[in-house]
Order: sequence, then C-alpha cells, then structure tokens
Amino acid sequence: MNILVTGGAGYIGSHAVRKLHAAGHSPVVLDNLSYGHRGAVPNNVPFYQVDLKETDRIEKILREHRIDAVMHFAALISVGESVRQPLLYYRNNTAGAASLLEAMERVGVKRFVFSSTAATYGEPEETPIFETTKQQPINPYGRSKWFVEQILRDIVATDSKFGFVVFRYFNVAGASDEGDLGEDHQPETHLIPLVLFAAMGKRNNITVFGTDYPTPDGTCIRDYVHVNDLVAAHILGIETLSEGDARFYNLGIGRGYSVREILDTAKKVTGKEIPTVFGSRREGDPARLFANSDKVQKELGWQPQHTDIEEVIASAWQWHTAHPNGYKNS
Ligand code: UFG
Repeated sequence: MNILVTGGAGYIGSHAVRKLHAAGHSPVVLDNLSYGHRGAVPNNVPFYQVDLKETDRIEKILREHRIDAVMHFAALISVGESVRQPLLYYRNNTAGAASLLEAMERVGVKRFVFSSTAATYGEPEETPIFETTKQQPINPYGRSKWFVEQILRDIVATDSKFGFVVFRYFNVAGASDEGDLGEDHQPETHLIPLVLFAAMGKRNNITVFGTDYPTPDGTCIRDYVHVNDLVAAHILGIETLSEGDARFYNLGIGRGYSVREILDTAKKVTGKEIPTVFGSRREGDPARLFANSDKVQKELGWQPQHTDIEEVIASAWQWHTAHPNGYKNS
C-alpha cells in the first residue's frame, strides 16, 4: 500500500516508516519539522515539509503518490503546554486532523489510522482501562485528540466506504533495534529519557513528581509500551482495515510500573547512580494509568514483544548513549 505518514520525522512516525518499508509498503512522509527531524527519515522515502493546515498541498501529495491509506501521527503532545495554550492544541491537533481528512475526502482516500491517547480517559474511573471505560479528558491535549475521535465517528456515519482505526497510546518508550532511531523531543518531558539523561550526567538529577499517591510506593504508575510494538499494531491495523470500520484499541502492555520502579530498573540497566530529588506532584497526573489490551490482542493478533521493562529501558539507553545530542551531529 502507498501510505502517507504524517509526523513521519517524529519519534513514533519514524519507527513506523521503517517498519512499513520492511513490511513491503511504500511510505510517504509529511512533517512540518516543528519537532520532527529530517535525519530520522531515510533519503529513499519521499518527504514533504508541509503543515497539516495546508489542505491543498496535502491533496496534491495524496494524488501524486496515489495514497491508499493515511497514518496520522503528527501532533503536539505536551499536556502542560496544552493547558497554557489551548488554542494551539485545538488548531494543530483537532483542526489539523480535520484539514487532513478534508484533503482525503477530496481525493477519495478512505483508510485512516489515528494516534489517540490514554489522556482521553482523564482520571480513569477504573484500572485497568478498557476501551469502554468512560472518556472524560481533563486537559486540552486529551480533548484535542478526543474531538478527532468524534470527527471520525461522524465521517464513518455518513460515508460507508470510510474506515478507521484509533489507537489510544499509553506511555511509549524505547528505540529502534539498530540503535539509530530514538526519542529526541525538545524540550524532553518524558520520564524514561530524563532518567537516562541523569544517568549520563546530561542533567544533574531527576525529580520524582510526587511520593504521596495512593499506590504501593507512593509514586505514579504507568504502562510503558515499546515503540516497535506500538508500530506493529498500526501495521496490523492498516492491513486489516475494511470499509465501514470504526475500531478503537488501547495500546499498552497491560502492566504498570511506578516511577520508583523505573528509577531502580534504570540504575540496574545503566550501572550508574541516578541522582534523584523527591518533589511535589505535577498538576494533572493521574495516580495510575494502565491498559487492558485484550481487544487489540484478540482482534488484531497483536503480541507485544518487549514486555520486560528492563529491555525497554535498555533499548532507550542504547539510543541515548550513542546519540547524546539526539539527531544533532549524529
Ligand atoms: N515524571 C516524574 N519526573 C519527571 C517526568 C515524569 O516523576 O521528570 C513522572 C510523571 O509524574 C508521571 C510519570 O513519570 O507519573 C510518566 O510521566 P511522562 O511525562 O513520561 O508521561 P505521562 O504519563 O505524563 O504522559 C504520557 C504521554 C502523554 C499522554 C499521557 C497519558 O506522554 O502524551 O501519557 O496518556 F497524555
């Protein structure tokens, strides 16, 4: 299939491009490079520096490359920023997706895979979180993605030839097996890279945000899924997508690790001391988020390969130590 990958120069999108290629598909990358890295896209993959809001240019790319399906990764992802600048999130994530979908409608591209988030559940009513757990996002980031889920439901209700898969991500981590693709966010806010930066001496310490949560060790629990496992689900999703599909899947491994457990494992993996400061809670952090992922396992036959957190952290460590400045000078 000819597949347009938006955000293909980003962390998850670049891993998807590689795996799509390996599975015999022809990816075409669209990225505005506001956060993505040109160096993360191989030279033999068509690349367009285009913003999601440029509907006409996207339409042209869809026609030119006879695109069969779209994987939509491009988005802003910082919860804190979304609280401070909600319109930025609605414009990029919600209006951006609407613009992309409009271009698809003009050309008649009917298959869509969308990166949603566990943040659409907000402070979940139950854990593990099922796809049927009530969605009540508590910040503009979560809502900006939730709105896109609703737009997709509306499209499929009026166009029986359209089909989509929505994946709600839990905490994505790790890097490529080859060690040449990995996480490089500027600024970085995610736990695992920051812990590894502290181990490398790239930062002085790591602050644990809150030790008084109602969890066994008082720190927050998250479900860490390896980026290649996540991408594998997308490929299964796109290859099985049919007309009229409106599918929603959680993507997590179904087991949570606390911040303290991540720190202990990182210490073991790196063999380094990790200077730690115990700080107060970060606003908007739910105590525990972990998935029930039976649905994606049953319906798509998805089997995560990296279920050992030690392996996930080792994979990230390999990337960060080989690329201490990310894609810069690498
Ligand atoms: N944490 C720290 N110190 C840090 C950074 C994080 O203690 O310096 C803690 C957080 O408080 C949280 C856990 O580590 O408990 C994980 O934090 P991340 O920032 O790595 O990830 P989040 O769980 O906050 O966010 C992720 C995605 C978001 C998504 C959210 C819910 O990055 O895009 O999951 O789906 F919205």
